[in-house]
Amino acid sequence: MTVTVHDLRGWKAEGRRWAMLTAYDFPTARILDQAGIPVLLVGDSLAQNVLGYENTLPVTMEEMLHHVRAVTRGARSAMVVADMPFLSYQVSVEEGVRNAGRFLKEGGAHAVKLEGPQVELTHRLVELGVPVMAHVGLTPQSVHGMGGYRVQGRGEEAATRILEQASALQKAGAFSIVLEGVPAELGTRITEHLHVPTIGIGAGPGCDAQVLVITDLLGLSEGKLPKFAKAYANLREEIAEAAAEFAREVQTGTFPDPEHSYE
Ligand code: KIV
Repeated sequence: MTVTVHDLRGWKAEGRRWAMLTAYDFPTARILDQAGIPVLLVGDSLAQNVLGYENTLPVTMEEMLHHVRAVTRGARSAMVVADMPFLSYQVSVEEGVRNAGRFLKEGGAHAVKLEGPQVELTHRLVELGVPVMAHVGLTPQSVHGMGGYRVQGRGEEAATRILEQASALQKAGAFSIVLEGVPAELGTRITEHLHVPTIGIGAGPGCDAQVLVITDLLGLSEGKLPKFAKAYANLREEIAEAAAEFAREVQTGTFPDPEHSYE
């Protein structure tokens, strides 16, 4: 059975903490689903982590849909959330509804995620039966407007603004709220204030759930990880070693051996 928005609401009431991971392809979605990760996010971080763009701004609806389909084919129990890419929902509510609908209709996703205080669109989508995950604090699609990837909500005025945005999105019907790049104290304050689950990324341990980007978790990302990310494996090194060993065995003639050849 697929995890539902009702399950997540119940887990908050029970005080049960859970994990969300990004997934961008079929095999990873299968593995994460089988590992019991309840929610998979096809994040627009696909842009940098898979497609090699500099930030999330260039990724298109068609590129996102292509990967959402692969992930929904791989997930049996996990809820799949599709991230709405930049300019697919900001121009008008109508366009936002049409594009969100495509993720459910053509992509097989169970819910969509919107960055920023998209209260009107959230309300409309929820009215139409499209579950919405909201996302406040550091919102990477506004990287230029924010002057870079900076922690948000420092100081009482900024903190109150984010708390008010989260409350308005909950009121509009969002079933959960990603809190990105805010002080841990604010993460806890918002979590205690809301009845829908908060999902933290760089928002401290007080959130109901935590999300990491899969390439960070697996140690596949190039360069230094952001402070909030943790690598639980070093696949970058393992892949490089496996590829180099294969190349060595081909050069020395030890691969393919009889075991890997047909008689
Ligand atoms: O696109 C993404 O990976 C995200 C998460 C960081 C929440 O939005």
